[in-house]
Amino acid sequence: MTRDIEKVLLSQEQIAEKVAEIGAQISRDYAGKNPMIVSVLKGSFIFMADLVRAVTIPCTVDFMSVSSYGSGTSSSGEVKIVKDFDGSIEGRHLILVEDILDSGRTLSYLMKTLKSRGAASIALCTFLDKPERRVVPVEVNYKGFTVPDAFIVGYGLDYDQRYRNLPYVGVLKPSVYGGE
Ligand code: IMP
Ligand code: MG
Repeated sequence: MTRDIEKVLLSQEQIAEKVAEIGAQISRDYAGKNPMIVSVLKGSFIFMADLVRAVTIPCTVDFMSVSSYGSGTSSSGEVKIVKDFDGSIEGRHLILVEDILDSGRTLSYLMKTLKSRGAASIALCTFLDKPERRVVPVEVNYKGFTVPDAFIVGYGLDYDQRYRNLPYVGVLKPSVYGGE
């Protein structure tokens, strides 16, 4: 698995430090608000698991799943909710947790859809941000790291469902996805 990685971008230590920071910030910002922290599956599952353990205030968790990508490396522009929340979001303070913000299509669509459902507030928390690739503007409230325009895997992020279990974040060799 590691021989498919061109270089390590973020080590386990760097990630842990950042996640602790974001968790502390959310704990301060949402004290007394019982936020609902929502993982957008599957890419954010590892970040989510670490993040909620760094949050020290009462909160609930939920999961949703959208599909925007096939097995390739670029966005189709089509976003579908594949799995919705279990509970109502009426009156709740939502924090959406994403793995990576790329074109922005997924999150911009989700924000639009969720805003019509009566949440008290909706914030976005993304582990990674690839600003060079943005097509639709998206306002981010909590961000882990800015990354270059390369295909990134590990710590939950996949290529064709693989590499999610790498404990660090790395750049995938273009030869793996037929890139040169
Ligand atoms: P967007 O709608 O283009 O912003 O795409 C967001 C989704 O695309 C993310 O939640 C990821 O699942 C996927 N994605 C975008 N860039 C990468 C990448 O570099 N590695 C792995 N997945 C990516
Ligand atoms: Mg993905």
